[in-house]
Amino acid sequence: RAVHCLNGPNLNLLGSREPELYGSATLASIQARLAAACESRGLALHFRQSNHEGDLITWVQDAGLAGEPIILNAGAYTHTSIALRDAIKGANAKVIEVHLSNIHAREGFRHHSHISPVAQGVIFGFGALSYSLALDACIALATASES
Ligand code: DQA
Repeated sequence: RAVHCLNGPNLNLLGSREPELYGSATLASIQARLAAACESRGLALHFRQSNHEGDLITWVQDAGLAGEPIILNAGAYTHTSIALRDAIKGANAKVIEVHLSNIHAREGFRHHSHISPVAQGVIFGFGALSYSLALDACIALATASES
């Protein structure tokens, strides 16, 4: 079984990007932490980042059509991308939306997400821990759907 973790624009800059908002963990360190958690549970992890909307759409489609769950931090595309929302819906992708920051404690333009209405659930505000919590949720959902 496989889990996907897809990351959108500017998340390649984590570690140096606005650390007061996003913390000091790099994307590579988040990847390493998730990979270890997946390995101990016998899961394959496909961890990707792109600054391009179309890449994210293709990856969402592929994972969705394969029936594999996705931990998705779409970055600012969260607030703008109807195309990404349509990809989730169209490929029947099981998505857990994550954000490092508490988007509801920030600017008004971050309060709306096009992803949330088509996600299984949303975890935000816990920094890098948001990803680990999302992985736990992913595994719990997969286990529930098997039994
Ligand atoms: C983010 C929140 C978004 O509003 C922002 O555009 C990001 C990161 C987060 O993880 O907190 O790029 O998704």
